[in-house]
Order: sequence, then C-alpha cells, then structure tokens
Amino acid sequence: MAKKRKKVKKVKREARVKTKIQKRAEARTNERKRRTAKARTIIRKPVKLRIKVKPRIKERTEQARKINLGKERGKTKTKSKIIETYNVTADKVTATINITETNGKHEYKVNMPELSEITKALLNEIRNSIVSEVVISSAEVLDPAALEGLKKKFWEKAEQLIEKKVPQIKQVTKHLLVGRLMHEMLGLDKIEFLLADVDLEEIVITSKREPVRVYHKKYKWVDTNIILKSEEEIINYSNIIARRVGRQITTLNPLLDAHLTTGDRANAILYPISTKGNTITIRKFRRDPWTVTDLIKNNTCSADIFALIWLAIEYEMNILFSGGTASGKTTFLNVCMPFIPTNHRIISIEDTRELMLPETLYWAPLVTRQPNPEGKGEVTMLDLLVNSLRMRPDRIVVGEIRRQREAEVLFEAMHTGHSVYATVHADTAAETISRLTHPPISVPPNLLEAVHLNIVLYRDRRKGVRRILQVSEFIADEDRVTPNIIFRYKPILDKTVEHMKSMRFYDEIGRHTGMSINEISKDLGEKKRIIMWMVKNDIRGIEQTSKIMNLYYSDKEKLISVVNQNKKFSGF
Ligand SMILES: Nc1ncnc2c1ncn2[C@@H]1O[C@H](COP(=O)(O)OP(=O)(O)O)[C@@H](O)[C@H]1O
Ligand SMILES: [Mg+2]
Repeated sequence: MAKKRKKVKKVKREARVKTKIQKRAEARTNERKRRTAKARTIIRKPVKLRIKVKPRIKERTEQARKINLGKERGKTKTKSKIIETYNVTADKVTATINITETNGKHEYKVNMPELSEITKALLNEIRNSIVSEVVISSAEVLDPAALEGLKKKFWEKAEQLIEKKVPQIKQVTKHLLVGRLMHEMLGLDKIEFLLADVDLEEIVITSKREPVRVYHKKYKWVDTNIILKSEEEIINYSNIIARRVGRQITTLNPLLDAHLTTGDRANAILYPISTKGNTITIRKFRRDPWTVTDLIKNNTCSADIFALIWLAIEYEMNILFSGGTASGKTTFLNVCMPFIPTNHRIISIEDTRELMLPETLYWAPLVTRQPNPEGKGEVTMLDLLVNSLRMRPDRIVVGEIRRQREAEVLFEAMHTGHSVYATVHADTAAETISRLTHPPISVPPNLLEAVHLNIVLYRDRRKGVRRILQVSEFIADEDRVTPNIIFRYKPILDKTVEHMKSMRFYDEIGRHTGMSINEISKDLGEKKRIIMWMVKNDIRGIEQTSKIMNLYYSDKEKLISVVNQNKKFSGF
C-alpha cells in the first residue's frame, strides 16, 4: 500500500515536475513565439518596405533588360551578315564574292574554294616543273602581245602536267588548279578577280598594312578581305602591270601610269615616293558605259538638253564639255557620241583610252605615249592632233585641252570645217572662257566664236550626284567673249531650266542647214520624243542606243512611227 502511495506520490511529483518543466518549456516556447512574432513584425516592416522597393527593382531590371536587349541588338549588328553574293570568273576560275555588312559598314569578300594540303603540294610540284619546262624569254615578258602567247603555252603545259599526275581529274578542278597557278605565277593572284568584276570601278592598294580597297558601283568604297603579304609583293605586281604594257617600274623610275590592254588604267608609285608604302591604283574601264537613258534616269540631264545636243552634233556644231575634277565630263562626252551620224569619220585623241564608241561608228581612237626611260618614243597630243588632220576626219574628239599649242590646233581644226568635241577643266561657262583665253592656254578671244555650245557639268560632292549646271553659247567680239546661258541648273527644283534666249545657236543651225525656226523646233520636238520613248522602254547600253541612232539616220520615218504609236522596238 505504502509502496503504492509512494508510487502515486512519485507520479504526482513527477507530474508536478513535469508540469513545471512543461510550464517552463511552454513559457519558453511562448517567449520564443512572442519573440518570433515580435521579430516577424520587425521583419515584416522591411518586408513591407521591400514591397515598396520591388517596383523600383523591377524598373531597374526592366531598364537593364532594355540595355541588354540593346546590347544584344547591337550584338546581332556586330555579327556580319551577307547582303549580296555573286560569282566572278577570271581565267576559267570562279570565285564567290560576298558583300557583307557589319554595323552598317560593307565589306567585299573574295572566297575561293579551299585547297587541301595534298592539292597544295601537287600544285607546288607542278609549279616547279613549269618553271623548269616552260622557257620564258624576256621578250615575251616585256611584250604585251607575246604575253597572250605565253599564257596559252603556260596553260597547256600546266594542264598536261596535272593530267599526268591525276589522270581522272575533273575538268572543273583542272581549270581551278591551272587558273590559280596562272594567277599566282603570271598574274596578280586574287586581284585578278577584282579586275574581272564588272561592278568595280576602282582598285586601290596602299601598302601591305591595309586591305585592298575597291570602289563598288552599288556599295561605293569598301575594304576587301585581300591583304598583301609584303611590300615586295606590291612591287612585283607593279612590275607585272608594267610588263603588260611593255614598261618597267624601278627605284630610279618609280612612277608608272599605264593603260592596260583591257582598257583599265593602272598607276603605281613605289616607296619612298609614296610614303606609306608601295601603292597601286587601278581605274577600271567601264565595260558597260553610261548612255542617254541612264543619265536621264539618274537626273544628270533632261531630254530637252539631250535633244539640243543631238541637233548640234547632227549638224556638225562644235561643243566643249566643262566641269571640275570627276564631274563627269568624259562620261558625258562619251554619252553624246552615238548622236554622230554613222558614216562620219571620227578620230579621238586621249592620254589614256577612256572613250568607248559604238562599233557601228567609223572611229579611229588614238592615244598619246610617254617617253621611255631614255626619253625616247614620246607621242604627244599635239603630234596626234596635227596628224589627225591628215586623216580626213569629219569629227575630232579630244580628251582634254590643256596646253596652248593643242588648243590652237584644235581651234584651227574648228575653223577649217571639222566638228570638234573636247573637255576643259573649268567650273562654269565664264570660267571656261577665262581658262581658254588666259595662260597657259591663251587662245585669242575671237577664235572662241567657233564654239557653238558649252555644256558645264557639276558634281555635288555632298550628295554624290552629277548635274548639268549650264548650257551656254559664247558671244565673241575682237577682245572679249561672254557666255549666254541658255539653260541653268536650279538647285531648289533640282532641275536644269531654260534661262536666256539663244542669241546665235539656232541662227547658225538655220544658216548651216537652211531650216526655218519652225522646222528646227519640230526637229527638236521629234528628237525629244524619241529620247523619252527610249527612256520609257529602257533602251540603254551602247549598242542598243546606237541601233536607234542608226535607224534614225537611215529610216527616220520608221523610227518616228514606232515612237508615235508608242510601240516597243523589236529591232534588237
Ligand atoms: N552622270 C553621272 N552619273 C553618275 N556617275 C557618273 C556620271 N558621270 C560620271 N560618273 C562617274 O564619275 C566618275 C568620273 O567621271 P569622268 O567622266 O571620268 O569625270 P571627268 O572626266 O570629269 O574627270 C566615273 O567613275 C564615272 O563613272
Ligand atoms: Mg575626264
């Protein structure tokens, strides 16, 4: 019993202890809870704050996101993308040209099929065999005509060697290998593709440190992915170019201005005369020259003015084309040449061949020549002018009037009944007169009466466009010549508009042809309609243009009827 009681007591005690412990524990938990609750409330405050802060953080992240996006967008821009791809073939080898754009900047990339190490080794072997087997005489290297023969010999030998080494080789691969070898050994390597690309107008090599730059018709100045390995390579190329025209370029004779057989013009200057490094500039001959339609479409000239020039050319008036550097004088002169009647004998005289006349015209192009290193063999513009007068020309076309004697002979030719077209470096009609009548040209003012029209071209450097600035006639008396501006460019309208009444041009045409003023204006109207019809039907290109002109001179009625009915011309 006692035991039992003891036990009960113990339990009770334990229970008491327990409750004490429990109570304490509970108190502790409560305290903890209270504290946590308190703590929570303390914490909650900043939580509330946080909630307030949140939008700001959001804003910031938003901003950051935008910035990042911007960066990403920037990044997609920095990634270059190909915007145009086309193929160019030179000596049966085709390269792919990629025009890429990086951050708005264009680049011109020449891509060649990659050659494997084995193929490269094979090419090396063939190269060595050719060097020992194809004997190249110095005459062949220096004579541009013989160079063609050499190329042929080279091509055949290389083909034979490759066929011997790899009998089952495919034709395309063979052409690729032989062509590459030829470009490397006789040509300008990858630059050959630049020469073959009709979309390029200019190729510039400044030094080994800078990539070769080109002037692309569509993308203007762009860098290429071609960088020459050494200055020696540039000198070597200068030499190859010089040899193609039978000349040499050396440290003693470091300037070269050569007119290649392709019609391209190359200029090379060696270091240290060119201080940055050896430099080569190649101005490419436009294979597809501008024509009337192009210059009306790009707003250089109007149909009215072309009709006037056509009339002047048909009736053998003399025209001077003026303008500043690269204003488009030579181009414009060339555009007007198809207006010459088919059976007239034309002689052109230039320092470098730039003019390109339709094949149907009866044309003898002459070019001047610089003396050789010993000072021999020079043929000047004056020599050619004097000589051309003995060739019974109807029309004489002169690249540029620069010196007194040339100008005198030229004006002499005008006065003796030849029809002359020439360019003069001057910005306006008044300046043209001043240039011609003052040193170094100094033509007596009264001779300028022989000029019937002066067309002044102008290049707006900022916009990169060319326009006809003035069309004028010269009114000359004994000691003074003044221009009478018939058409004048109005910048606000971006148009060349009629300015003053003609004082002598139409009279002279009338006197020359017996036509009345009415007949002349009817003729002008017809010519204008033909020109507009050509533009509308996109009749361009030198041969197509000349076909229309031929028809005009052979069967005018037929052409006019096609034009009047606004029909398409099916004569091509
Ligand atoms: N009317 C024109 N519109 C656009 N480009 C032109 C025009 N005339 C000439 N060009 C370009 O301008 C450059 C210089 O022309 P060029 O006729 O040689 O000038 P200039 O004889 O006055 O020095 C050439 O690359 C040519 O293609
Ligand atoms: Mg020129």
